[in-house]
Amino acid sequence: MCEDAVSQRLLAWYDINARKLAWRVGPDAWRAGQRADPYAVWMSEIMLQQTTVAAVDKYFRRFTTLWPDVHALASAKDADVMGEWAGLGYYARARNLLKCARVVSGEWGGVFPGTRAGLQALPGIGPYTAAAISAIAYDRPETVVDGNVERVMARHFAVQTPLPKAKKDLTDLAGAETPEHRPGCYAQAVMDLGATICTPRNPACGICPLSKTCLGRARGIAAELPRKTPK
Ligand code: ADE
Repeated sequence: MCEDAVSQRLLAWYDINARKLAWRVGPDAWRAGQRADPYAVWMSEIMLQQTTVAAVDKYFRRFTTLWPDVHALASAKDADVMGEWAGLGYYARARNLLKCARVVSGEWGGVFPGTRAGLQALPGIGPYTAAAISAIAYDRPETVVDGNVERVMARHFAVQTPLPKAKKDLTDLAGAETPEHRPGCYAQAVMDLGATICTPRNPACGICPLSKTCLGRARGIAAELPRKTPK
């Protein structure tokens, strides 16, 4: 592999700059052999579907303290889980959280499936969340595409086609960059880059690990990308 590949530069950057998040196994621990608990990855991804990292932190800690594994959550009372969810919004997520916990506990022996298809068959898990769990918890080379990934790809490859039309191209570009080794760290690296450097407004291109090959930056249009079809 070319050592200058996008993924390699992102992983090197992530090794130093990864955000410390309650549900995450950081790069040092990962190198030491520690792996993320699929239950924690699943819980965090469901909470993060419509809520910011900052808001999720407190809820994630509370839920995993009250219900440390999927069997514990599966046995919880509906009203207790709904009560603890209060404030996070989008309550269908909490109902599906419980449904999913009961399926995994009752039908899967408490073990979350590792494949994207297996995960997507569970309540509340769509294509994005399935890919994220598969990559982050099981180190499968799944491509995780969210708004951050679309933005990083649109800028790096100067994709001018507006969203949503550009979705397929951006997904293909992201797929081509996904490494076989450390795909979970890579997925989280792109999320962190999108949250801290390749931000929607005022991207910090001067300190971006991808800047030397970023076509958006070279053309002076990084901050304008991705373009969007007017509503
Ligand atoms: N947003 C969605 N999933 C995330 C994750 N695992 N880490 C940081 N931000 C996220």
